[in-house]
Amino acid sequence: MPALSTILNAHPTGHHFLQIPGPSPVPDRILRAMSLPTIDHRGPEFGVLGLKLLKGIQQIFQTTQPVVIYPASGTGAWEAALANVCSPGDHLLMYETGHFASLWERLAKRLGLKTEFLALQGTEHGVPTSWRRGVQADMIEARLKADTSHSIHAVCVVHNETSTGVTSDIAAVRRAIDAAKHPALLLVDTISGLACADYQHDAWGVDVTVSGSQKGLMLPPGISFNAVSQKALEASKKATLPKAFWAWDEIIEMNKTGYYPYTPNTNLLYGLHEALNMILGKDGKAGLAATFARHQRWAAGVRSAVNAWGLSIQCGDASVYSPVLTGVITPEGVDADAVRKIIYERFDCSLGTGLGKVKGRMFRMGHLGDSNELTLIAMVVACEMGMKLGGIKLAGSGVHAAMDYFSA
Ligand SMILES: Cc1ncc(COP(=O)(O)O)c(C=O)c1O
Repeated sequence: MPALSTILNAHPTGHHFLQIPGPSPVPDRILRAMSLPTIDHRGPEFGVLGLKLLKGIQQIFQTTQPVVIYPASGTGAWEAALANVCSPGDHLLMYETGHFASLWERLAKRLGLKTEFLALQGTEHGVPTSWRRGVQADMIEARLKADTSHSIHAVCVVHNETSTGVTSDIAAVRRAIDAAKHPALLLVDTISGLACADYQHDAWGVDVTVSGSQKGLMLPPGISFNAVSQKALEASKKATLPKAFWAWDEIIEMNKTGYYPYTPNTNLLYGLHEALNMILGKDGKAGLAATFARHQRWAAGVRSAVNAWGLSIQCGDASVYSPVLTGVITPEGVDADAVRKIIYERFDCSLGTGLGKVKGRMFRMGHLGDSNELTLIAMVVACEMGMKLGGIKLAGSGVHAAMDYFSA
């Protein structure tokens, strides 16, 4: 065991490039806001803060319906969504876009729900085809049409699949449910899509939207959300899965005056207040639109680099490229994690690992939240140098392609 002084002095100088697709870097403004003294969560100031947050967060979800804020990671909000609207043995139609969709399906099974997991069959570049495409709304429509007894209780899909870099068309899933004239609820995970990619809880007819703090909202992990439709609220009154801490009814009741039935995570909520100011500012909807536009531009710049390297993007359908992250498939025989290790150790840049079925086959470049063009170019530089050190033969310079894109 080395001496403590050796460990503490081992931090490299300069800036660490946290380029994983969440947690994303937390801006100084938010860190400072969170450093304010903790207040009485039953006192008058807290009620003012609580009401302001609940109003602001509705704008981010583009909803006028209740948004429940939990002191929990995203996994908690997944469980909350299911625990509130389901009864033991309820049948869920889920869709395999990647690792996070798979984890949600596993969680549903652990809650005693019956899951049916739709997926595209086959493999491409040694990775499952279903992990390179968005949700296939026509498959959902066909399955719901076949369910003439309406035994399927809910359809669950991931909007931005963080393990692959694919952003599915949620409005198309809504249309599929409507076309099948099926009463199933629509539950959507946009844990990594919120405040990066356009997301419209009301307009897309979503019943429960699940999200978290540590991605587009630029906060540390520890807050998560359920945006809830009236139909979901009605369903929650009849649902019989055990729920106590996650139960919407008591929280929504106390939220009317800005308070919570338990001790909320006050300092993270200060951070959320600052994040809402940063994203919505005085501009509100326009601030949100500018956030989406900047993520699209960053993503296109990063993809131009991957294309110049001659490597395959994990997302195999250009119409569903994620504005949040880009997955890069390494050439056959190259361990993507070994390359990531070089990039981390030599250049102090963290990239996302390949998860689950794509472990070792790809790495993920995050371009979200408190980022800018120069930070992203630095990430591209780190990847290019690391891949060369790792023995990957690149077709051309991604760095120059990204510079050309961002300076055009
Ligand atoms: C799409 C998606 N769903 C769910 C989760 C799980 O959230 P958490 O790790 O905050 O519990 C994540 C985490 O990265 C995610 O990206």
